[in-house]
Amino acid sequence: MEGERGLVCVTGGTGFIASWLIMRLLQNGYKVQTTVRPDPEGKRDVSYLTNLPGAFERLQIFNADLDEPESFSDAIQGCIGVFHVAHPLAFNENEPEEIVSKRLVEATLGILRICLNSKTVKRVVYTSSSKAVLLCGKDVDVVDENVWSDVDYHKSLNTFGLHYMASKTKSEMAALAFGEEHGLDIVSLLPCRAVGPFLTPHLPASVEVALSMILGKKHLYKYLTNIHMVHVYDVARAHIFLFENPTAKGRYICASDEISINELSEFLSIKYPEYQIPTSDELKGNEGKKLPHLSSKKLLEAGFQFKYGLDEMLDGAIQSCKEKGFLYVGKKERFKYLEFVHKVQVDDLAGAYIFLLENPAANGRYICSSNEMSEFLPAKYPEYQTPTAE
Ligand SMILES: NC(=O)c1ccc[n+]([C@@H]2O[C@H](COP(=O)([O-])OP(=O)(O)OC[C@H]3O[C@@H](n4cnc5c(N)ncnc54)[C@H](OP(=O)(O)O)[C@@H]3O)[C@@H](O)[C@H]2O)c1
Repeated sequence: MEGERGLVCVTGGTGFIASWLIMRLLQNGYKVQTTVRPDPEGKRDVSYLTNLPGAFERLQIFNADLDEPESFSDAIQGCIGVFHVAHPLAFNENEPEEIVSKRLVEATLGILRICLNSKTVKRVVYTSSSKAVLLCGKDVDVVDENVWSDVDYHKSLNTFGLHYMASKTKSEMAALAFGEEHGLDIVSLLPCRAVGPFLTPHLPASVEVALSMILGKKHLYKYLTNIHMVHVYDVARAHIFLFENPTAKGRYICASDEISINELSEFLSIKYPEYQIPTSDELKGNEGKKLPHLSSKKLLEAGFQFKYGLDEMLDGAIQSCKEKGFLYVGKKERFKYLEFVHKVQVDDLAGAYIFLLENPAANGRYICSSNEMSEFLPAKYPEYQTPTAE
């Protein structure tokens, strides 16, 4: 652990990104106050946070809900920094976008007012999203922090994800305007899709999308158009980098890799041959609207370096999925368990008992095994393609 760094608050500690951020802050010597939504029945397991190294001494958990922004007050008191990460990812699409966005903007502003009044908070890092620049509606090849997504443009596309994109864009815009108006130091980070291992018991939405071809979730393929990806560890590191960098100002896009849906299918089938990955032909119709490239130049020029690439993102995500039961061991991987499987039918076994009982010459031990699986299956089920012994 590095030296003592002071007290900071992370909102929405139960989340995919926030839990890694908390881990890294503790590792770097910070004391952390985090928020989780109230759980009156006490059913929620947050041991993945309380068991983090250093958590016993330096992590405190508070209850707070974005629907009641003042509930964040206790968690922010005394902090030198606030990482405002909490934001819903799933929405009731029947609720008008304007109402959803207004509620989340109000939540952000409520939290910022607490920061301002605390007199202790020196900087707020607001977790925005690349969705706040990607849908700018301009015919550009690359987008940077100078552009904003256009909610009306997104509406005109009549496509999915409007509530999320609009509420993130409007909240970030309101946060930066609040900072300007009141002299509160606010920096925003705009990560693209974060992928990697996860501490949470839930399967993070961004991991589920990135692995949708392996998980067989066809309904998520539509989210794989021009997929920009970044390792969740780099996202956590970038939050802390922006908090600690005295010259950081404004917005920072955080995107290390980009891959098309067809390239991803090829990459996955070469890297993980044990899974059945859909081919380009099978993916036809999911290419969607081409989005601009994302530029992380500002973050990189400030001195940040990405440490991880696609290999680590996908390996980590797959490993966590296996460990937490979201992904069963690949079919071919399971062959190893069949190596010594011998079989005998139960009526043969019963017959062998009687035979030994009735045979006056029977003596000592008798192995009872008719044939091995690898021979038995193709003989009995010729309609299936059974792998050969090789
Ligand atoms: N993952 C990505 O690819 C990605 C990319 C760009 C930006 N982001 C941003 O990063 C942040 C975290 O995302 P994530 O991927 O870590 O998602 P996540 O795992 O779903 O975490 C979201 C967090 O927000 C909390 N939250 C949601 N609604 C809340 C409410 N009404 N009151 C209080 N807390 C609430 C959740 O609490 P519960 O556990 O109680 O639901 C959870 O702790 C979000 O701001 C998201 O927009 C994510």
